Amino acid sequence: MMKSFLIAIFGVIGMSAHAQSKDAIRFVDSLMRLMRLEEKVGQMNQYNGFWEVTGPVPKHGDAAKKYAHLRAGLVGAVLNVHGVQNVRALQQIAVRETRLGIPLLFGFDVIHGYKTVFPIPLAEAASWDLNAIEQAARVSAKEAAVAGINWTFAPMVDITRDARWGRVMEGAGEDPFLGAKIGVARVRGFQGTRLSDSFSIAACAKHFAAYGFAEAGRDYNTVDVGTATLFNTVFPPFKAASDAGVATFMNAFNIVNGVPATAHTWLQRDILKKAWGFKGFVVSDWGSGLEMIDHGYAQNLKDVAALAAQAGSDMDMESYAFVGHLSQLVKEGKVSMEVVDDAVRRILLIKYALGLFKDPFKYCSEEREQQWTGHPDHHREAFTMAQRSMVLLKNQSALLPLQKNQKVALIGALADDPNSPLGSWRIGAKDSTAVSVLTGMRARSNQVSFSAGPNLIVGKTDFIHEVNINETDTSGMQAAIDAAKAADVVVMVLGEHGFQSGEGRSRTQIGFPGLQQNLLEAVYRVNPNIVLVLMNGRPLAIPWAAEHIPAILEAWQPGTEGGHAIASVLFGEYNPSGKLPMSFPRHVGQLPLYYNHFRTGRPDPKSEVFWSHYIDQKNDAQFPFGFGLSYTKFTYSGLRLDSTGAGGMIVEVDVTNSGQLAGEEVVQLYLRDPVASVVRPVKELKGFSKMKLGAGETKRVRFVLGYSELGFFHPDGKYVVEPGLFHVMVGGNSVDGLNTSFHLHADSKWASWMETKKAKGF
Ligand code: NOJ
Repeated sequence: MMKSFLIAIFGVIGMSAHAQSKDAIRFVDSLMRLMRLEEKVGQMNQYNGFWEVTGPVPKHGDAAKKYAHLRAGLVGAVLNVHGVQNVRALQQIAVRETRLGIPLLFGFDVIHGYKTVFPIPLAEAASWDLNAIEQAARVSAKEAAVAGINWTFAPMVDITRDARWGRVMEGAGEDPFLGAKIGVARVRGFQGTRLSDSFSIAACAKHFAAYGFAEAGRDYNTVDVGTATLFNTVFPPFKAASDAGVATFMNAFNIVNGVPATAHTWLQRDILKKAWGFKGFVVSDWGSGLEMIDHGYAQNLKDVAALAAQAGSDMDMESYAFVGHLSQLVKEGKVSMEVVDDAVRRILLIKYALGLFKDPFKYCSEEREQQWTGHPDHHREAFTMAQRSMVLLKNQSALLPLQKNQKVALIGALADDPNSPLGSWRIGAKDSTAVSVLTGMRARSNQVSFSAGPNLIVGKTDFIHEVNINETDTSGMQAAIDAAKAADVVVMVLGEHGFQSGEGRSRTQIGFPGLQQNLLEAVYRVNPNIVLVLMNGRPLAIPWAAEHIPAILEAWQPGTEGGHAIASVLFGEYNPSGKLPMSFPRHVGQLPLYYNHFRTGRPDPKSEVFWSHYIDQKNDAQFPFGFGLSYTKFTYSGLRLDSTGAGGMIVEVDVTNSGQLAGEEVVQLYLRDPVASVVRPVKELKGFSKMKLGAGETKRVRFVLGYSELGFFHPDGKYVVEPGLFHVMVGGNSVDGLNTSFHLHADSKWASWMETKKAKGF
């Protein structure tokens, strides 16, 4: 009887609305009036699918219990259930066998593709191409949607400064400005213009907050970060995602100022929901509620439920805390009914916005699944995204692009590996389904010999097992050396195995694992004409290679079409256009290393010893943030400012393609506030523009710096714009560029600016 009443309401309410439309609110309110307390709490409960795991399973997580809970209306969402058949089976139970028939959310880590795997997010960020990134997320959403998934746990918008942290691969790197733009592009891609579209899925900005600041880069470790850094560095991508209408947020495993993010009232209620006006819901990270006991913040699961719910965690992923204790806590008056109602309303509004009440099976068509899964169009998109993600780090004597008639010795176990290019977050794809570099090269030239060299790993590895690196077995070394001797040019594919980065995969050494450095040096001794292709999920410290190897291409873990994309770049079918979204250190000991650091009181070598430096290593990056070459050359001239425009300070520069080939350049604008009431970074990215230039062509690039973009947050969260001098730098990376300056007067009018000069940094 209840169910037919609900069906009557569903029938009359249109689904075109935004989550917060009057219709949506009216519908959800009437549904909530029918719900019992236990059913409300059920909506706040998310279970892992009954066979797959992306985290440790609590001992009490047995499938029979989960099915019973599902039938009793005690489950609002699941994760890791995918494929139309599986999704339909559970959705049918939710819709047909529970008292109120409320449909489930199906969450999945659609991080960089589903069946068709795109380059890892850090690689995509290196494209600095917001349209391409949005499109990659759009395609990923489509493939996930046809597999029954309606919610992805992406984008990860954590700012990351420490390459030891395995999850740097999942974000957009070290810069909050770039990170915010990319986060928004991804949210748009996943959610489309309307969440109710049948190819759109709900996105999730994660991990709120500061998960990327794990001490020493060790995953799940303590975070100790001040509020100025939170406001200026950590929050901007989250705020941007919230403003862009992201449906959900995920909190984090870490503590922030001593309080686990899952129980953090200031983060979740004061900042996110109140100050930013976020209307979606917050899901905990996997078992992050339960982990508060290990943190030493909660006594037991009942405690967990009270602390998390009160602090604004709306849904509990796989901790069993809410489902086990929240109803009782409400009955005891320890958690208010308003807390539960607010969470449930948020969750139901997202279900409404997705159109699930109108058609709970809208993502469940086998026909669509067949038609779109791994569609050739998606492969083409993955291919172009991979091309655009690659960063040319070095190209002495124009060794690249290769000529088809050159005898190439392709060397390295990774060159013949169809698994590693998929990275570690490819749980929707089949293992070993990427195009290897060998395949890509052989498709383009019959002059390619291959020699693996020593194996990279010992035995097999997968998503939940650690990688065993081969440190001892040198078989294959001599064959590789012989092959190199016989070749005009050597292409070496070195880097990390696909399962050496990602969650739980922090490293203390970020050079080449195993015997790869030995192989590189041995080959160099017989043939130094080497193109080094890096395949990795994090910045690497490779000082020897940076000094000796004439050409280096950063290809990351480039996804399903990786081998074709790499070969196409090597043979000059595509002119590389990527720029690093994260600094590459010279040595792991420099970490955390990032371009937008503060000045110290002793920045320069005034005396031999007593200044801020290492006695055994330079301070700066091997390859800085924003850096990337092209097969052509770009020159910058004519930097000028114009304060007469209404919208703010206009910054213009002429960029010329002074080489022989067409190419793309990412023009970057950096700002520095040299004296302020709170110390400011040495420079901060404030604008960028990626554009194509034909050989010999010049284009004028224009940025408009708004008044509000000149400010910063004080540690108390107050945003201020302070009058005074500002330095501007425009160039092709964060180190080299043209400089100029202007004054902002107290009355906020743009004012005089100083002479333009070419200088190294500022
Ligand atoms: C734990 C990870 O931290 C999170 O990012 C992911 O979405 C969940 N597991 C679900 O797999």
